[in-house]
Amino acid sequence: MVNLHLAELTPDNLFGALRLPPQAADEEPVAPVAWSVAEAYVNPTAWPRVVLDGDEVVGFVMANWNPDEEIPEFRAGIWRLNVAREARMRGVGRFAVDQVAEEARRRGLDRITVLWVPGPDGPEEFYLRCGFRKTGDHLFGEVVGELLL
Ligand SMILES: CC(C)(COP(=O)(O)OP(=O)(O)OC[C@H]1O[C@@H](n2cnc3c(N)ncnc32)[C@H](O)[C@@H]1OP(=O)(O)O)[C@@H](O)C(=O)NCCC(=O)NCCS
Repeated sequence: MVNLHLAELTPDNLFGALRLPPQAADEEPVAPVAWSVAEAYVNPTAWPRVVLDGDEVVGFVMANWNPDEEIPEFRAGIWRLNVAREARMRGVGRFAVDQVAEEARRRGLDRITVLWVPGPDGPEEFYLRCGFRKTGDHLFGEVVGELLL
């Protein structure tokens, strides 16, 4: 993974993003990208981005930037993160987290949050390795994590 970069969704990369896991029948602790794209369409504060390795889509991340959001944990942070199966454990997820953190800094923020499904099959270890810590709170049955910038 030498040439990772972040891009907005375009007609050229949309279908690569939609092919990322999970598809409807898959068991994974994150929603399909199609749901996220639909949510972003109706939610102007959503920040969906694809992760490209060269011109190949290897991941998708969606953040949200809304200081007026009722639930504080949804004001600034990661809503979704999907990495292609064949690209996992090669730094794509960490790159996406770093890019969201960078965007948060550009916006003058000092913290981002994420919710994750608890348990050994969830992404907890990944987020802890990326610098998040558990706040001790749970929301909708998920663990609340924060990354101080
Ligand atoms: C979780 C996920 C985003 C991780 O992406 P990734 O590109 O494989 O992660 P990276 O290669 O950037 O890993 C960063 C660090 O986390 C560790 N890590 C990644 N996945 C891990 C796992 N499943 N278990 C333990 N450690 C893990 C890596 O070893 C690496 O550790 P290091 O700092 O010691 O080198 C990816 O596996 C995925 O898309 N999973 C399914 C969907 C999901 O859970 N999304 C998050 C929803 S909130």
